[in-house]
Amino acid sequence: MRIDIITVLPELLKSPFEASILKRAIDADLVEVHFHNLRDYTTDNYKSIDDTQFGGGAGMVMMVEPIDKCISTLQAARDYDEVIYMTPDGETLKQGIANQLSLKENIIILCGHYKGVDQRVRDHFITREISIGDYVLGGGEVASLVMIEEITRLIPGVLGNPESLAEESHNEEGYLEYPNFTKPSVWRELEVPPVLLSGNHGEIAKWRAAQAAERAKKNL
Ligand code: 6GU
Repeated sequence: MRIDIITVLPELLKSPFEASILKRAIDADLVEVHFHNLRDYTTDNYKSIDDTQFGGGAGMVMMVEPIDKCISTLQAARDYDEVIYMTPDGETLKQGIANQLSLKENIIILCGHYKGVDQRVRDHFITREISIGDYVLGGGEVASLVMIEEITRLIPGVLGNPESLAEESHNEEGYLEYPNFTKPSVWRELEVPPVLLSGNHGEIAKWRAAQAAERAKKNL
């Protein structure tokens, strides 16, 4: 999968791709990430990417032209499956969306800032608008990282043990994972549930299913 990220803050984005799962996916050639600084696509001496809004009101709006230049340059080089705009008023990111996106070849991610982009960007280029939750961040960069990590770990070959995907939270709508324990079996007088030490796989599966259902109920 190839991911092109359009941002005014590439320096905010780069280091997470140099560690852990994202680095592993890149090193294994399963994911390719390209950063595009929107200021490199500006047309005036001030490298302006935003301006005041028509109709008045506080806050700056990201202008259509630099974004057009950047997206059009990318689209001239290859076909893109999705042009995603990260915005607090988008569709809320869920595991199901990440599952769909993990199957794509090429995606563009545009990170919004300020009051967002000129509506014509959304109407003309954007195929999908995504938010990571009901709160407002300074920009779409950190949100895009959340989404990219979520997508990347679903790409076949990225995780060492793909079976861990099958049993984790949110794999099915509303499913939360059961509690996990490792050594030591007693810590500060807190004991691991005896059933997990019993070796009885049927009983263990039953206990885990009951615990997962309990968690799902509590977090509703
Ligand atoms: Cl995608 N962007 C911003 N600026 N804030 C957000 C968000 C995105 N998702 C949740 N809050």
